[in-house]
Amino acid sequence: MALNCSTFSSLIVGAQAAAEACTKRAVLQTCGRYRVCRWYSGVTHEENRLEQVGELVVPGSHRRVLKDVLPFSAFLTDSFERRHNYLRISLTEKCNLRCQYCMPQEGVTLTPRSHLLTAEELLMLARLFVREGVNKIRLTGGEPLIRPDVLHIIAELRKLEGLKTIAVTTNGMNLTRLLPSLKKAGVDLLNISLDTLVPAKFELITRRKGFHKVMEGIEKAIEMGYNPVKVNCVVMRGLNEDEVIDFVSLTERKPLDVRFIEYMPFDGNRWNFKMMVSYQEMLDCLKQKWPNLEPVPGEETDTAKGFRVPGFRGQLGFITSMSEHFCGSCNRLRITADGNLKVCLFGNSEVSLRDFLRSGATEEELLHIIGAAVGRKKKQHAGMFNISQMKNRPMILIGG
Ligand code: 5AD
Ligand code: SF4
Repeated sequence: MALNCSTFSSLIVGAQAAAEACTKRAVLQTCGRYRVCRWYSGVTHEENRLEQVGELVVPGSHRRVLKDVLPFSAFLTDSFERRHNYLRISLTEKCNLRCQYCMPQEGVTLTPRSHLLTAEELLMLARLFVREGVNKIRLTGGEPLIRPDVLHIIAELRKLEGLKTIAVTTNGMNLTRLLPSLKKAGVDLLNISLDTLVPAKFELITRRKGFHKVMEGIEKAIEMGYNPVKVNCVVMRGLNEDEVIDFVSLTERKPLDVRFIEYMPFDGNRWNFKMMVSYQEMLDCLKQKWPNLEPVPGEETDTAKGFRVPGFRGQLGFITSMSEHFCGSCNRLRITADGNLKVCLFGNSEVSLRDFLRSGATEEELLHIIGAAVGRKKKQHAGMFNISQMKNRPMILIGG
């Protein structure tokens, strides 16, 4: 349920509670006689960089490598020491497709335009998060590329010092036309959704035509040098589980990273356990065809378990949110198009940053609100059966 704030006084009470929570975490982060000083204003990117290479030196001390001290923002560090340096921002609730697993058949009630974040509000929040140490932002939707000011937003994000990666998750429908401008504006990474290689099935899954447009978009992304181009494929029994081999075959000649995603329950998507095809089942099937399939080592915060067929140009991965969750290394936060901060994809606790912003909160006050929400983040999600019973948003209103 969203925690909205309409009065400034409740903001102050919330901010005080948040400040206390952050103080506790700051104390926890004190290591021996070494302390990282600026708990409330975050750290500089230079400090983050030095910390990453293990060379952070506390002023006044002799040169020391401080591997266990966390200079990362206390506001973005939760009570399980997870550092949230990856922010996903939904640009719109609208989409030009109607994928069964994302959009309820009856559609969704769209938030009135005046309740959505404006570009300025969104950029102000992004700036704040980047100042605190977020180094990757992904733009999602709905379909982010149908937002008219998407290029302006990307170009402004690109100016943020410390933001290393701008990624976009798109359904690919408008990609061919927009790719040159997206690249120019500064998009580093593209994830394109495609769940079938059969045009008629595309129409069944997405409830719209468009298969060839998406394929053209994928080709164009490769042509323009995106490498890898990530392809998101939600696997559902009875719909497309028979296509995993065909998808992997595509990686023989193309620099694609096909990511098979376990079907997840969201409001209105009629998830049921029998329709979910587990990672293990997909892997077994692929190993029958390619017994030499080998794991590809990844980063700790990777959501996908990577594999490749030796000799193939591309690779594949599995996003195992249901059968083997990766909550322990989660570094992601989400902002919905209507400005709610969501600390977990599968949790229904949200806080309206928009309302605080519009009631005149200062950056410092916003940080306390954010810190409190991050501090309340649970250790892990509730498990697929509980999630399927829980109230959440439909995926289209969360943003992937
Ligand atoms: N299960 C798994 N992935 C989903 N996505 C949307 N809904 C679901 C779901 N129910 C992911 C898809 C899509 C992106 C926008 O969000 O990967 O490509
Ligand atoms: Fe649109 Fe993507 Fe949802 Fe499909 S999955 S309806 S393309 S937002």
